[in-house]
Amino acid sequence: MPSTVFVTGGAGFIGSHVVPLLLERGHKIRLFDNMFRGDRARVAEWVATGDVEFVDQDVRYGGAVHAAMKGCEDVIHLAAVSINKSQADPYESVDINMVGANNVFAAAADHGVRRVVFASSASVYGDPESLPMKEDGPVNPLTPYCVAKLAGEHLLDYYARRSSLSWIGLRFFNVYGPGQKPTAYYTSVINHFVKRLRAGEPPVIDGKGEQSMDFVHVHDIARSVVMSLDVDPAQANLAVNVGTGIDTSVAELARTLIAAVGVNVEPQFNPRDVLVSRRAADITRAREVLGWEPTIDLATGMKELVETEIA
Ligand SMILES: NC(=O)c1ccc[n+]([C@@H]2O[C@H](COP(=O)([O-])OP(=O)(O)OC[C@H]3O[C@@H](n4cnc5c(N)ncnc54)[C@H](O)[C@@H]3O)[C@@H](O)[C@H]2O)c1
Repeated sequence: MPSTVFVTGGAGFIGSHVVPLLLERGHKIRLFDNMFRGDRARVAEWVATGDVEFVDQDVRYGGAVHAAMKGCEDVIHLAAVSINKSQADPYESVDINMVGANNVFAAAADHGVRRVVFASSASVYGDPESLPMKEDGPVNPLTPYCVAKLAGEHLLDYYARRSSLSWIGLRFFNVYGPGQKPTAYYTSVINHFVKRLRAGEPPVIDGKGEQSMDFVHVHDIARSVVMSLDVDPAQANLAVNVGTGIDTSVAELARTLIAAVGVNVEPQFNPRDVLVSRRAADITRAREVLGWEPTIDLATGMKELVETEIA
């Protein structure tokens, strides 16, 4: 059923893919973003449809969040500052990512919101001991950002016990695709490799390139967010991994990008001891609870990214 959805951080990378899907499904949107990283031109286009109201405000201000949420039936909470920023400034990180999340969840409980979808993160697992990573497996949040994501899931559990809301905490893995910011470690690697390949130079990989990530396309991420609104409350109130289940090593990533750019080079390896961490999601729960499957494979997604995005 179309509802009025309160979307925090909706002007950012993932939000810019979620908003069009919500509009396609007939939802009305109240977009709440302080435009720290948001795209103002996109927001203006959405507001012009008549189905999006924009509130230029900060999740740190509980009163502003509470007032802006009035009349909304569902909440999608995406606003956050990044993992890198959380190490540079833990105070700000906890303020926005933990206190800000609590402001959103407490207001949702007060306003009788039906469903809260929360952008959690695979980083709550830390460096996993075994793959694939399962939602009920060990967690080891290593930075204030990761601590805030895990705390957010527990806060939602608290509010679900004392109000009518139910929640889904989506643990996103390594999101990539149109509109991605080059600041995340792996997006900077992608951009760097592509720039070298365009100049006819091979990508240079430290060690054997065994470090791996689970790359998931932002369109599939946006689908998981919207599908979380439809989960039966009896099946909700849990964390759900959103990845592909495939761990892609840095060496495989380099080969995928070589094919996407279409050059005839081989990656070069720079012999060095590298701490190898690996990531791959168990996505059984996403399949069973959300009815979600990834639809864009890495070769297709990277080819599109190379053709349309990376200058
Ligand atoms: N991109 C990824 O790979 C990834 C992986 C795991 C989890 N996540 C989570 O998904 C969510 C969205 O990520 P993204 O990649 O779109 O990030 P992004 O930085 O592109 O978007 C975040 C949005 O939140 C807004 N914002 C920041 N601080 C705010 C504040 N104090 N008040 C109101 N709005 C504020 C920004 O202006 C921006 O529009 C975040 O919660 C992030 O932690 C992202």
